Amino acid sequence: MSPQAIVRSGDAAPETPEIDADGLSVSKVLGTEQGAMHLSAATSLLAGGGRIPGHEHPFEESFFVLSGRVVVTIADRSYELAEGDFGFAPLGVPHAWSNPFAEPAEWLRVRAPAPRTDGRTVVSRLVAGFDPATSGPAVDAKASNQRYVGHFDDTQIPPPGPIAMPGYRGYGINDVSIRMMVDEFLGAEHHTLFIVQFEPADVFSAKEHFHPYEELYYFTHGAADGLVGGEACKVSAGDLVFAGVGATHGFTNSGDVPVRWIEAQAPKPTPRHGTLFVHDWSTDD
Ligand SMILES: [Fe+2]
Repeated sequence: MSPQAIVRSGDAAPETPEIDADGLSVSKVLGTEQGAMHLSAATSLLAGGGRIPGHEHPFEESFFVLSGRVVVTIADRSYELAEGDFGFAPLGVPHAWSNPFAEPAEWLRVRAPAPRTDGRTVVSRLVAGFDPATSGPAVDAKASNQRYVGHFDDTQIPPPGPIAMPGYRGYGINDVSIRMMVDEFLGAEHHTLFIVQFEPADVFSAKEHFHPYEELYYFTHGAADGLVGGEACKVSAGDLVFAGVGATHGFTNSGDVPVRWIEAQAPKPTPRHGTLFVHDWSTDD
């Protein structure tokens, strides 16, 4: 059976950070507990005055700022991030965080490939002398010379239509708006991170389908009727849905406002046959 899970808001598990950090609380929302082998996800909350020292790890780590302000340093670049800013630290590239502000900052953290867990290799290791900056320029949504980061806001949601993604273009996923954030364009090799929004729909938004890769959906706005592993469910802002390789899933926005989530995929979709529909391959005639 393909692994799948729904992690409700409030069910996240507190996680001890693998390196010593000041003022950091990590709440794990996806890991091996849910059967994930390619993706790992958590929310990180860094208190005002908090600090995560310079470190590196054998996986990519992307982020999307949910609230507050925080300064990230990645290699030789530092940025002051605010809600809607996103980015990623490439595999093996030192990075560090600081929150010089009064309010806490929270971000969604996605790692791929998933960290190894047998203790023979590090999850993270400190990089001596790599200290977090305490200031930096804001992310400029219109600049094309920024590395590692970008900015999303509501004005960037494209008009809804049939899906056009690596691996599938067509009408099995309809009235969808997608705004890519982290992919090979930004330099990521192991995963993608993007915004998905569906308009209210009478029949379906995404027909029941499955993939040769893992997906996570972290709901940020609205609600949807889901079909996860063939089971009907309701999902809304704060919930996370995980679909492992081959796990069937589909959604309908049966509300009257758009439903939106942050989605991640790992490994990256193949150019063709990345999305397969249950109705095309059903054992029922
Ligand atoms: Fe999917």
